Amino acid sequence: MKKKLWQGRFDTPLSADADGFNQSLTFDRKLFDADVEASVAHAAMLGECGILTKEEAEQICEGLKEIVRDVAAGMPITGAEDIHSFIEGELVEHIGDVGKKLHTARSRNDQVATDMRLYARRSCDGAIRALKDLVEVLLLRAKEGVHYVMPGFTHLRKAQPVNCAQYFNAYSEMFLRDIDRFSACRARLNVMPLGSAALAGTSYPIDREITRELLGFSSVSQNSLDAVSDRDFIAEYLFCASLAMAHLSRLCEDTILYTSDEFGYWNIPDEYSTGSSIMPQKKNPDLPELVRGKTGRVYGALVSILTVIKGLPLAYNKDLQEDKEVFFDAETTLLQCVGIYAALMKKITLNVNAMYEAAGEGYSTATDVADYLAKKGMPFRDAHAVTGKLVRECIAAKKKLTDLTLEDFKAASPAFEEDILTAVTTRASAEARNSVGGSSVKAARAGIVSLKKRLAKY
Ligand code: ARG
Repeated sequence: MKKKLWQGRFDTPLSADADGFNQSLTFDRKLFDADVEASVAHAAMLGECGILTKEEAEQICEGLKEIVRDVAAGMPITGAEDIHSFIEGELVEHIGDVGKKLHTARSRNDQVATDMRLYARRSCDGAIRALKDLVEVLLLRAKEGVHYVMPGFTHLRKAQPVNCAQYFNAYSEMFLRDIDRFSACRARLNVMPLGSAALAGTSYPIDREITRELLGFSSVSQNSLDAVSDRDFIAEYLFCASLAMAHLSRLCEDTILYTSDEFGYWNIPDEYSTGSSIMPQKKNPDLPELVRGKTGRVYGALVSILTVIKGLPLAYNKDLQEDKEVFFDAETTLLQCVGIYAALMKKITLNVNAMYEAAGEGYSTATDVADYLAKKGMPFRDAHAVTGKLVRECIAAKKKLTDLTLEDFKAASPAFEEDILTAVTTRASAEARNSVGGSSVKAARAGIVSLKKRLAKY
């Protein structure tokens, strides 16, 4: 282990076990790019402001670029307390004592806060890209599904027939909200803490505008105590990720149900299915189950950071180092899950006949019968009662609503006419709901157009 940045104050080195426990390099090496980027900007600013000479600043920037080349060529990132110490140590090795000037007017506290924001900014972009790909797949499924009708459920009981496109659009709406949320999270976190130093700011004549501009932040933090200890953006990202996973887990659950023998609406192709070690006949939905399970892991990350920041005294505390592993793990998990689901949704096949058949079962067009009577002037509550009785009679006679003759209907109410026989069919039922966002082909198509328009902003 290289000498500590802070060794001067101590008589003896840190014991090996304490060192191992304290270190963060094994995971914060992920911040390598962000740390170099922020250091290059910081050094350039120090040069501009005359805090370092132009030559010193240039030497530092060149040295940092050499380290990037070394790492790209395979130099291992090891042997230091954290990524900041590693880079500074390497810099001194590359360019000598001038490297020791990089940390002027800076602390690891504002440095790590800046690195994490640079990193999280890219993470938001990555999440948006992945979710966008998923929505694009769902929009393709919707385009194909616009001609098909499937059962819509409430309480997991067949409720009313819905348009298949409307079904896929429902998930696109959820994921589009997730995209919106990641985008808002990105905008809110795009504030630069660099220049806050350890906690109180700095006495050097720095120009934070220069670093802000170089690093592409939209503004600079306005309170150094807050800036070094603020991890709200980590919690926000993890909330966005958690909700996206919640949405994905619902789609997983639908997939598991719809591909079961009991439902039989969709098939997962062999490339995305798994078998059983003992039961030769099994074809299991491991992928949706795993994604559903990994949702818990991402929630865990959110709860973890919320718990870490709870009750922390101002300003920086080492507890905050715990923001990283959960963040990185949740990020990887989210991207993996969204990616595999986009691939899976592209590949599932729809059993359109089975879906149509199922959509007509369970007296799912009973609301249409009640609506029919209500539209003829009967109060809806009475129409509901008349229809309920008809359903009861059908159950007793083992008949469907579509098996009833006009005479059967007329016996229930004289208001029924010939057109009720069409109104109770599955297709007519879905088509009747032409309200905005509804189950008619026209409404489902409009849903696709609207989603595409909103998605195009990203
Ligand atoms: N590894 C530390 C973290 O992630 C870097 C900041 C260290 N600052 C300090 N005052 N010890 O938070």
